[in-house]
Amino acid sequence: MDAIKSLSLLTRACPYLARTGLAALHGAAGGSGVRGLSTSAVELARCSVCPGHTGQSALLAKASECPVVGPSIRANEAAAPKQAAASKQAAASCPYAGKCGDTPGRAGSAELPASLGSQEAAFDYEGLYQAKLAKKHADKSYRYFNNINRLASKYPQAHTANPSNMVTVWCSNDYLGQSRNPVVVDAMTAALNTYGAGAGGTRNIAGNSGLHVRLEAELAGLHRKEAALVFSSCFVANDATLSTLCSALPDCVIFSDQMNHASMIQGIRHSKARKHVFEHNNLAQLEQQLAQYPRATPKLIAFESVYSMSGTVGRVPEICALARKYGALTFLDEVHAVGMYGPRGAGVAEHYDYDASLRAPAGQRVPGSVLDQVDIITGTLGKAFGIVGGYIAGSSALVDMIRSYAPGFIFTTSLPPPISAGAVASIQYLADSQRERFLQQTHVRQLKADLARAGIPVVPNPSHIVPVLVGDAARAKRASDMLLAEHSIYVQSINHPTVPVGEERLRITPGPGHDAAMRARLVAALDAVWSALGLRRSADWEREGGRCGVGESRTNSELHVGWKRGVDFVWEDHQLKQAHDYELARTGAVPVAPALLPMIWAA
Ligand SMILES: Cc1ncc(COP(=O)(O)O)c(C=O)c1O
Repeated sequence: MDAIKSLSLLTRACPYLARTGLAALHGAAGGSGVRGLSTSAVELARCSVCPGHTGQSALLAKASECPVVGPSIRANEAAAPKQAAASKQAAASCPYAGKCGDTPGRAGSAELPASLGSQEAAFDYEGLYQAKLAKKHADKSYRYFNNINRLASKYPQAHTANPSNMVTVWCSNDYLGQSRNPVVVDAMTAALNTYGAGAGGTRNIAGNSGLHVRLEAELAGLHRKEAALVFSSCFVANDATLSTLCSALPDCVIFSDQMNHASMIQGIRHSKARKHVFEHNNLAQLEQQLAQYPRATPKLIAFESVYSMSGTVGRVPEICALARKYGALTFLDEVHAVGMYGPRGAGVAEHYDYDASLRAPAGQRVPGSVLDQVDIITGTLGKAFGIVGGYIAGSSALVDMIRSYAPGFIFTTSLPPPISAGAVASIQYLADSQRERFLQQTHVRQLKADLARAGIPVVPNPSHIVPVLVGDAARAKRASDMLLAEHSIYVQSINHPTVPVGEERLRITPGPGHDAAMRARLVAALDAVWSALGLRRSADWEREGGRCGVGESRTNSELHVGWKRGVDFVWEDHQLKQAHDYELARTGAVPVAPALLPMIWAA
């Protein structure tokens, strides 16, 4: 079918074929018509060494009559003698020589244009790959993947390539250990046994099940929105939604935080809409940019709640207020917040109205809340929810529009049943349990305090992410390698282009499974590595004027950090206490070693 379609197009485009029609080609191909042509193409591709062995001479004879292609064929024929020797030599090594009923070289040099022949040097594909890789090695941005096998029964322990070599993982985005939560694993196992491993198709063709519908209802309820739509990942969700929406909005202008994730940047690029990038959390600059356009011009502000590499927080209420003032949509990526913030794990937008969200029945709007003001929320099922997949949540019409138009949603196999079932179980579990969030936050606070005491430079932020500034790509990788090899601790180094050059770092993510002993080992190991490599400590950064919040004045860093002035953590002390007491009442157990408590209650 495709061959017929391409031929019809060719026929219409070519002034010669337009007159003679497909019948001419049919004849040229020896009576086998279109099928004969495609067979020739296959042979041509197969036999790259001796292109003469393709039975295409009749076709070429016909093609030379074409006023468009003909002159080029004749020019190539004139050049052919010079190439004949090379062609003959190539033909001698042809694996099909003598098997295809043609004499090697006969059709090749005399009848094929050079563009179809082997005489002209082909593009050096391998050379290009090597050159691109050499560039990555030269600027130290080449990525090395560590072989880390996280053990479900020993979270947060993993083994390396050698199963007896155990390491402690300190940089996983399985933030709350949900990938091994028995509630999640059991739901996945049951779905696997009932519905099998794969979805069986796209959502449109045989791949839409009750589990997808259930998952989307769960997500819509979590974010108190009318509807939600699930994608293979949040990368795809961001790319597909931004590109589809912003290309549909007439003359749409996009305003994008400078630190936005690659998936949003990709979606913005694909939309081909006009864009403005504003400095991270710089509201004054954002407003200046918005004010350039009439209120009626469609606009979209794309930003994140927790920025994964800095741990800083988007200024959600202020950005929503600007959006209202200038008639813009808000697009908030809560990938690094869902499951972890808000009393039910809906993210930072929910966390702003912690008490009101707790009081409101699940799934219902809280009018006037920050969450209610955000138009489009995107999230992942692959980080705190512990599995894989991504989604958007918003109005029914928006979701239906993206469902109906976004190729990234439509033309791909849907999420397998165990994934949907596990995601539903994980979301429901985290909507109730406060244990994981409480433990994560208390461990984060303690680690940040320990590192501050040791003078290890942490990029200031109010979230669960602990970025330790190194400021040099090679040394960041060296530090990560040393932690692994000498201390059995896995913390990945983060280099350009994920972070700006000069802001390379180690990104640490404490979770509920880390304990005091592990934390003490981590701090001691970092201290040793910092000394061994002579890395800058907090005081050194301060002397140099500071970098990305480290060693900067509090006022400066608060602007960057994005959370409420004078409040150090998104999870405030009284909220942590509330979470603790809720768990005590719910399970009858204190979900934390007593040693952790005084620090929180003392505040
Ligand atoms: C801010 C942000 N958005 C989107 C994504 C993509 O999410 P997913 O891993 O589900 O593709 C990531 C991934 O790390 C991210 O950091």
